[in-house]
Amino acid sequence: MNVYETENPTPMVGISNPLFTEYGVAVFVKRDDLNHPIIQGNKWHKLKGNLKHAQQTNKDCLITFGGAYSNHIAATAAAAKQAGLPSIGYIRGDELATHPEKWSHTLINAANNGMQLRFISRQAYRQKESETFLKNLTTEFPNAYILPEGGSNVLAVEGFASLINDIEQQCPDWTHLYTAVGTGGTLAGLIKHAKYRPNRTIQGVAVLKQADYLLPHISEWSKTETQTVNWSLLTDYHDGGYGQLSSELKAFKTTFETQYQIPLDPVYTTKMMYAFYQELKQGHLPKGSKVVLLHTGGLQGNEPKNQG
Ligand SMILES: Cc1ncc(COP(=O)(O)O)c(C=O)c1O
Repeated sequence: MNVYETENPTPMVGISNPLFTEYGVAVFVKRDDLNHPIIQGNKWHKLKGNLKHAQQTNKDCLITFGGAYSNHIAATAAAAKQAGLPSIGYIRGDELATHPEKWSHTLINAANNGMQLRFISRQAYRQKESETFLKNLTTEFPNAYILPEGGSNVLAVEGFASLINDIEQQCPDWTHLYTAVGTGGTLAGLIKHAKYRPNRTIQGVAVLKQADYLLPHISEWSKTETQTVNWSLLTDYHDGGYGQLSSELKAFKTTFETQYQIPLDPVYTTKMMYAFYQELKQGHLPKGSKVVLLHTGGLQGNEPKNQG
């Protein structure tokens, strides 16, 4: 797979359930987790424009940030390798520097893909967007391309035009589109590029607590000259916070995976799918709705060494 070209559209598969029949809705899963084994799902869309820009501006390395289990770190390492750019990952948690035996699958994989890992304390990590931190970084790496945590920026948002295009082709009369939300870049990209229709809504499902702070970022990133599609951010489905998964959601994940033979990741897509079922049961979707559940990938999170 070329770093910049999208392959054939990933499948849009219909799924059935007595619950969907009861509430009179049609449900589809957009299997974007199948677009790449590691630069998977939303990561592909977010990274392609950034990598292209890094190359066009002759940057000599790519620097980014993340936690030990970050899908973004895994994907960026693989994408940078594919683009022939050296990469550096600033990883939260300096205790890992001297304990490689404790490294997650994500970190081992990123290192195997050539990413230089730099472990920093949680305190230093919190300062990563500060002027001083960035100044030190650009002094050490004057020609680096710096990607924020989660990879969300203006170019990442643009990367979702092709995905929405595929969705419009595969399911032109969709009314509801669900996606998981971490930093909000994916949701913003979908909002920005979706066609407005009065009966359409894009529902973001926040996987972290107190996610309302993301709203201004999402609004800013998704601004257009024309009327944007209706959207909202559901903030009550974090299940205790980022990376938390209750026994109820673990059971939901297993049942869903067994029933549809579609693997879910524990951090993002399980919560998104669960949120949809709850919204449906609460009567929030009108009869006749056509729902697309976007599988954004993250399946490396299922690796045993990534289970905390
Ligand atoms: C699998 C998966 N789905 C959804 C998201 C949320 O994306 P965003 O950070 O753009 O909101 C992420 C986060 O990066 C992710 O890894």
